[in-house]
Amino acid sequence: MKKIIVLTGAGISAESGLKTFRDSDGLWEGYNIEDVATPQAWNRDPELVQEFYNMRRKSVLEARPNQAHYALVELEEKYDVTIITQNIDDLHERAGSTNVVHLHGVITRSQSSINSLLTYPINGWELRFGELCELGSQLRPHVVWFGEDVPMIETAAKLCANADIFMLIGTSLAVYPAAGLINYVPDFAPKFIIDPNIPHVCETALVHKVEAKATVGVPQVVQQLINESETT
Ligand code: APR
Repeated sequence: MKKIIVLTGAGISAESGLKTFRDSDGLWEGYNIEDVATPQAWNRDPELVQEFYNMRRKSVLEARPNQAHYALVELEEKYDVTIITQNIDDLHERAGSTNVVHLHGVITRSQSSINSLLTYPINGWELRFGELCELGSQLRPHVVWFGEDVPMIETAAKLCANADIFMLIGTSLAVYPAAGLINYVPDFAPKFIIDPNIPHVCETALVHKVEAKATVGVPQVVQQLINESETT
């Protein structure tokens, strides 16, 4: 089976009702990153940070996977598919995808604030201040903040380097190191970019551009790839 690596961003979940970050009315238009998504913010005002992520967790739990998430599940019948997502929602898993790498963590889990490897499921939408990990330290959202290391990046880079086919869906490629992953994909691997606003960095690259929303563009590309797998 050929290996397909799919890198997703907030755009794939937009039609499930979750805000992207950098579109107009995006999440970062309403909040300062420095107030809610950095280790400094956590040290300064952990309750504010906790509340911000509680609200986001609530939205995620209320959201449902869309046709783009489901189409990627169908691809598994014909290909060895790994999804590398920058999203902290769990919509790929809820749709049924079996191989999902969360580069920026997942909001449905908490993590120890002194050992990021210790993570726990969160019951419901609310992580309350005062809940402690097994080492006795405060639990925080299992989310990679700006300025923190991205522990899964090496795994993701290796996956990209072994891709036979690459798909990029709904990401502005504004945030590193995730944005650099496309550079690891071999030149020979066909690359599909699905986004209503194709990121500028992809404009000159040799890629198949599908300028469409995820729920339209992803099922189209998936169908094309499934057809190709049946004729080769
Ligand atoms: N279908 C597909 N793509 C869409 C849709 C849609 N319906 N709506 C918007 N998009 C595209 C936008 O055109 C844009 O290219 O999704 C992309 C969203 O970009 P960002 O808001 O920058 O989100 P993302 O690239 O995932 O952000 C990366 O930044 O703030 C951090 O940690 C956060 O993981 C996030 C990272």
